[in-house]
Amino acid sequence: MMNIMMHSDFSEIQTMEQKLDGQVFWQPEFATGIQVIDDQHRVLIAMLNEANMKINDHSPSSELDLIVQGLLNYAGYHFGTEERFAADSGYFDKQPEEASAHLAQHHAFADRVTQIKQELGSGQRISKADLVAFLKSWLINHILNTDMKLGAYLRTATG
Ligand SMILES: [Fe+2]
Ligand SMILES: [Fe+2]
Repeated sequence: MMNIMMHSDFSEIQTMEQKLDGQVFWQPEFATGIQVIDDQHRVLIAMLNEANMKINDHSPSSELDLIVQGLLNYAGYHFGTEERFAADSGYFDKQPEEASAHLAQHHAFADRVTQIKQELGSGQRISKADLVAFLKSWLINHILNTDMKLGAYLRTATG
């Protein structure tokens, strides 16, 4: 917000405010209470916001591909962290249904994003709105419903 206030030219301010549209801001409700997971979620949200700012419907597919690949890489790293925490804390034994549902959601996301990459690679156009809406709704739903349960378990399991 500081940066916006420092600009004196009104049209520039307006453009920047329009670009803030659709940005995701960190909410206290997003916190699982597990620092490493929450920090990684902040990075994912920042990457999503960066994608939202950078791309438009005329972005070349090479640029979209780069952004999607970056998200896929970091999401993979993040999923690995959560899955290691889950395995190390006995989540798979104590709450097998929840744990396997969690794993399945990670896999489904990676599969869908890989599919999007293939579609981009084959020259298919993907609307920015569709792409951003999918990423945003998946991430937020997953954090609020699925990661939250893992966080609650980890908080009691690790004291
Ligand atoms: Fe997760
Ligand atoms: Fe997560």
